[in-house]
Amino acid sequence: MRGIILAGGSGTRLRPLTSVHSKQLLPVYDKPMVYYPLAVLMQAGIREILVISTPNHLGIYRELLGDGSKLGITLAYAVQDEPKGLAQALLISREFIGSESVCLVLGDNIFYGHRLPDMLREEAERLDGCTLFGYPVSDPERYGVAETDEAGNILSLEEKPSRPKSNLAVTGLYMYDNEAVDRAAGLAPSPRGELEITDLNLTFAREGRARLVNLGRGSAWFDTGTHDSLLEASMFVQLLEKRQGIRISCLEEVAYRMGFIDREQLMLIGKELSDSSSYGRYVMELASA
Ligand code: DAU
Repeated sequence: MRGIILAGGSGTRLRPLTSVHSKQLLPVYDKPMVYYPLAVLMQAGIREILVISTPNHLGIYRELLGDGSKLGITLAYAVQDEPKGLAQALLISREFIGSESVCLVLGDNIFYGHRLPDMLREEAERLDGCTLFGYPVSDPERYGVAETDEAGNILSLEEKPSRPKSNLAVTGLYMYDNEAVDRAAGLAPSPRGELEITDLNLTFAREGRARLVNLGRGSAWFDTGTHDSLLEASMFVQLLEKRQGIRISCLEEVAYRMGFIDREQLMLIGKELSDSSSYGRYVMELASA
């Protein structure tokens, strides 16, 4: 399975924070936002990942993350010239995906859950059509909303409905088999001029080949689309990290625990990250534990 991180868009809702800076590089407590979705893909066992961003910002992502070799993964980069919709990511990635299945994650979505890595690997194995991940929220009208039967088969799917049929928001994490690329190519732009991910997902749902896994209790999901949700995500990460003495979505730790790099490589990265950074010290401690 190939991974895609979509980290473009105009970030209008967070201006002036995003007037110059890329939204998905804003800090979420102790690390750039994009670390969180990248950690999700890595935890799913995905090692070939394409980062998509705007012409203005792509270079900064490359500078920050490099070719991925330090983390034992391969990172490639592609530009989205204009924010023409989430489903466009699959068209931009056509060559990169080749004949593989694909997991798309939005660069501003933050997931945390003890069972998440296993769950993602299980879902990747049983994938047929598309698999979405849902999260119960109190304000479903802000999101894509799904209605499912007891087995998780999607019965209805609506984008930001004024009268939501359920409280299950569709999160920004999507798994598709290879057909999705051709289906995305066949989509017509919506009235707002975008290739809508919900339209793509509906093509699978209509055939009874769209599943939704409810992340539910025991996990956390944040879409950092507003100033408040951005701060809430930071506070959540801070609380958990301070209380438990761990780091969430520390890429170097994920790479080590997934077996992508060995202890010596981890130690080397730890040394490179400044000694004065508590993040760097954490990596060093892991390597010497
Ligand atoms: O966060 C989950 C929600 O994401 C889902 O529940 C919705 O179904 C889905 O449509 C999406 O809704 P948003 O309102 O959050 O979409 P937005 O247009 O804000 O885009 C989400 C992120 O993707 C944002 O960080 C900007 C980036 N983006 C967006 C578009 C349209 C791109 O990189 N390129 C694009 O073309």
